[in-house]
Amino acid sequence: MRSVENFQFIACGTAYHAALVGRGLLEHFGISAAADFASEFTDRARLLGKGTLVVAISQSGETADTIFAVREAKAAGARVLAITNTVGSTLTREADYVLHTHCGPEIGVASTKAFLGQLAAIYLVAGHFAAVKGRLDKTDARAYADELLRIPRHIEEILVREPEIEKIAASFSSSEHFLFISRRLNFPIALEGALKIKEISYVHAEGYAAGEMKHGPIAIIYKGMPLLAVAPSSSALDLMAGNIEEAKARGADVVAIVDEVSRKTIKAARYIVLPHTKEIFSPLLTVIPLQLFAYHVALAKKCDIDKPRNLAKSVTVR
Ligand code: AGP
Repeated sequence: MRSVENFQFIACGTAYHAALVGRGLLEHFGISAAADFASEFTDRARLLGKGTLVVAISQSGETADTIFAVREAKAAGARVLAITNTVGSTLTREADYVLHTHCGPEIGVASTKAFLGQLAAIYLVAGHFAAVKGRLDKTDARAYADELLRIPRHIEEILVREPEIEKIAASFSSSEHFLFISRRLNFPIALEGALKIKEISYVHAEGYAAGEMKHGPIAIIYKGMPLLAVAPSSSALDLMAGNIEEAKARGADVVAIVDEVSRKTIKAARYIVLPHTKEIFSPLLTVIPLQLFAYHVALAKKCDIDKPRNLAKSVTVR
């Protein structure tokens, strides 16, 4: 850890969204990090420096794109840390270091608990690294760990609210298009919310950085378009509130994912209210209602949730 200067995440699909959270988290601590699709990594591998730790994230540990990217990184002289759920997988054999997420077998094609497990591992790595590099002193490191330990209880509180999420999802069961927007550390969560609904409900969904909407995508908003705005308390909350107003003015039907504090700032037709946590931990909570939302939209559409069409649990071709 002491010799690591910066991080390069590589992953695919949902694991890539976990990587984006990892990048944001490390940057929050002032540590340089990049995140790339494993399938688009080729040229960047050659530019890796000795001080870069490559973090390859993969639930299955068998994703061909990720394994190939790891080989390229190693050929360039980089060290590789694998974060995976699968003991004995190809990735564990190729990497220099391995962190197992131990989530238990994930049967459904759509990654849910594995994503949270990946995030948990990333939060541990980032917190530890920040402490090693002196970016978190002893007291702050303790507070960081304490907040992380409170997350499971908060998740249980969210799960109790599933009937409310089901009701909202049912009202959108015939919608053909969905938009998910957010900012900063929750932008990857907007991407993940959109991916989940695409995978299991077969409807068009886009995750977008809220601030980018005005640069083009706002044109697609029509009256009644479902828009899920991930807006927990954050330093970008006022900007987020403005982006939601812009979408509402074009007719978006907004469901806001807020916490008890941010709810006072965000004006939406409907809310999913989460327990409050510090800004940097919020992705661990905001993703839960989006996973449940996708599940209930798919259920209402009578889709096969565990085995969605056209998809395989692990993608072993490039
Ligand atoms: C997630 O819901 C998807 N099934 C998919 O994006 C998946 O995350 C991706 O193929 C990567 O898989 P891995 O984590 O096993 O490498």
